[in-house]
Amino acid sequence: MTLGTTYLGLDLAHPVIAGASPLSATLDGIKRLEDAGAAAIVTASLYEEELIDEEEALEAAAMVGAESHPEVTSYLPPRCGCRSPLAAHLETIRRAAEAVALPLVASLSATTREGWAGIAADLQAAGAAALELNFHHVATDPTETSADVERRLVETVRDVRAAVHLPIAVKLSPYFTALPHLAAGLAEAGANGIVLFNRLYEPDIDLETMTFQPNLELSTREDIRLPLMWIALLSGKTALCMAASGGVERTDDVIKYLLAGADVVQTVSALLRHGPEHLARLVKGLTEWTQGHGATSVAEVRGRMSADRLDDPEVLVRAHQTTALLLRHPCRHAGRGVTGL
Ligand SMILES: Cc1cc2nc3c(=O)[nH]c(=O)nc-3n(C[C@H](O)[C@H](O)[C@H](O)COP(=O)(O)O)c2cc1C
Repeated sequence: MTLGTTYLGLDLAHPVIAGASPLSATLDGIKRLEDAGAAAIVTASLYEEELIDEEEALEAAAMVGAESHPEVTSYLPPRCGCRSPLAAHLETIRRAAEAVALPLVASLSATTREGWAGIAADLQAAGAAALELNFHHVATDPTETSADVERRLVETVRDVRAAVHLPIAVKLSPYFTALPHLAAGLAEAGANGIVLFNRLYEPDIDLETMTFQPNLELSTREDIRLPLMWIALLSGKTALCMAASGGVERTDDVIKYLLAGADVVQTVSALLRHGPEHLARLVKGLTEWTQGHGATSVAEVRGRMSADRLDDPEVLVRAHQTTALLLRHPCRHAGRGVTGL
């Protein structure tokens, strides 16, 4: 029995990988995830916006003294003796790529065209095995259309493809309307995979202080449904390989994603909740389930429940079923906000 799988052209021991999070932000964290049994690790994103902020803060710190007393520049160490945040991140990637045997997927979230292509090339030079482009864009400009957003995304992939030879995965938010069309555009631009989906930062209002508060809650098993549906719908219809991300807590969730057609399954919240060692439990459970169901490989499990292999693929998208379910099981749904439907 083999759990061996391929993702972005990389050979992996099994399909469970550690998604981008603070757990993969440091060399120690990355080593711990490898020891815990991850098949691959996506590093915490490098945010270009953050780099720009930190660079400006360093510049400002260097200038404060210099402006107050001209001679002060003679004793200020160059840029406060600090390594630039970009250099520090690249150094972590370089050391981690040397230290671990499994593939390191470097996550990047840039804001400028130069940032996407330039930093992608830096990450490649640092030793990343693949890139995960984290498109975190909230469209707030009323003149920006959804077509504009998608076009920019595809152009970004084209720019990055021209700058690197590494495999590229694109991590998307769940809010794209015509996902199959977008996936085709990303594949044509040179992407190799998509990650469905990222979790957006959704601040909440604190009624005491009357301020917006950062609110990044860990996911729950309920969060599996939307990515599960899209993976099942896209499987067999896209040239891109697919990573599932969202709501993996138990082995059952990993299996569902594989059945829908995911090539790999990422997990973050469960590892933050139970520790990286939880990875080994997920893999053990997957081994047992696969054997118990008479399969000899993950390939035999993958995609068995994808839309193109269902007798009735419409079951995934039928709108009237919502109403029918509520009429049939009103008690089960009581108190769950169904009146808003
Ligand atoms: C604390 C925390 C930090 C995260 N940081 C990143 C990040 O740096 N880059 C990224 O692409 N996703 C990041 N994510 C999103 C996760 O990679 C993942 O897509 C999301 O949490 C859904 O998976 P899960 O249900 O297994 O947690 C973060 C999530 C959490 C909870």
